[in-house]
Amino acid sequence: MNAPVPARRASAAYRYLFVAGLGLLVGVIATVMVARALQARQDPFPTSLMQVMSRQTDLLRDAQAQNRCSLADSVPRLQTLRSLSNDLDLAFPALKDSAQFQQHASALRATLNTALAAPPTDCLAMGQLIETIQTGCKACHQDFR
Ligand code: HEC
Repeated sequence: MNAPVPARRASAAYRYLFVAGLGLLVGVIATVMVARALQARQDPFPTSLMQVMSRQTDLLRDAQAQNRCSLADSVPRLQTLRSLSNDLDLAFPALKDSAQFQQHASALRATLNTALAAPPTDCLAMGQLIETIQTGCKACHQDFR
């Protein structure tokens, strides 16, 4: 006799649950849409340039750690880093007019110029060079990142 009442209550509970679940789903979808729209408005170039420079530096460090320190191991990476460092101005148009930024960019290019003029011929020298390069990266990051 009493059976219909709990059934109705149960179905009401399911309805609330369904609406709550639907609300959650719509919320998640809206959040993802907003996040993607914001991401699409950002220029991927600056972070991409930095990511590639970072990978090239990591590869140099890995080679050195594995005792691969010939010119064939270091020079191509140094050349890539040197070429990429020409685009620092292009990647950070808002910062390029800062003298401090120019100084950091120039210092990194100078390190790479010196390295390419006399590339490291052993792992000790390569290790020191990598340290110098990373110091150049950190100097700019401390001021501008
Ligand atoms: C002249 C300045 C300058 C130099 C030199 C520089 N960077 Fe950066 N780097 C920046 C700035 C500015 C940012 C912050 C970018 C942003 O968040 O939009 C950054 C961010 C990064 C990031 C984070 C990127 C991301 O995905 O958010 C990495 C990794 C990085 N740099 C690696 C390097 C490495 C490795 C070097 C050296 C070989 C280097 N950077 C040299 C200015 C510099």
